[in-house]
Amino acid sequence: MMKKVLIANWKMNKTRRESLSFVSSLKKSDSVDVRIAAPYIWIVDLVESADVPIGTQNMSEYSHGAYTGEISCQMIKDAGAKFVILGHSERRYIMGESEEDVQAKVERAVLEGMPFVLCLGERAEDRENGSFEKVIYEQLKSAFDPTTFTADQLKNGMIAYEPVWAIGTGKSATLEEIDHVHTFIQDSMSELFDGDSLDMPILYGGSVNLTNIQEILSLPSVGGALIGGASLDVNVFNEMIIKIGESRW
Ligand code: PGA
Repeated sequence: MMKKVLIANWKMNKTRRESLSFVSSLKKSDSVDVRIAAPYIWIVDLVESADVPIGTQNMSEYSHGAYTGEISCQMIKDAGAKFVILGHSERRYIMGESEEDVQAKVERAVLEGMPFVLCLGERAEDRENGSFEKVIYEQLKSAFDPTTFTADQLKNGMIAYEPVWAIGTGKSATLEEIDHVHTFIQDSMSELFDGDSLDMPILYGGSVNLTNIQEILSLPSVGGALIGGASLDVNVFNEMIIKIGESRW
């Protein structure tokens, strides 16, 4: 049985002192795969002080060069990052990252052997007009273009299903909605890669909290959670780790 994965996505939060104080109080767990996606600038400090893998929330698709303000895969690797989040909806819809950008970033991660978490998910209007499966399929097919990648090349990856309408809204998707989309993603991956087995964990993200985490992660189709708001308070995050660590599914 694979360990459930809990990734704290701090987004643009926490000073250096707050970041270090968080990891100094973080609960150790042998039964949960705990990770932190931190702001770039604290990576080096966190890698030194934390017992859990530290990752970043983004990276450039370019290897190096004249890209002012960008951070490369090599740089985050050198800083000790063990994974990177790609295609988060806040990058797609606030910062204007295109499907092509996300695909190029996945390509960069694969090329450099950097484990990644690809985020995808529909917006409220896609769910309302019934096109959410099509949207998710297109995001998947574009990021994991089967004419570019083999199943084997993607083995370092995870997927995070994050319906945009559930992120930071306090309104998580229902268990039925989550299970439906996770199963749809598994089926789509096997269709895209001709049945090649890809046991990529599929995480759920979107208003996961102390109250709903256990039932969401009890779904066999859910490999873990990407947690934003509720991951900022170390006491809350620790309680989640304990809850999931003690669960027998
Ligand atoms: P949230 O964010 O838990 O605050 O909804 C999740 C995410 O954006 O990864």
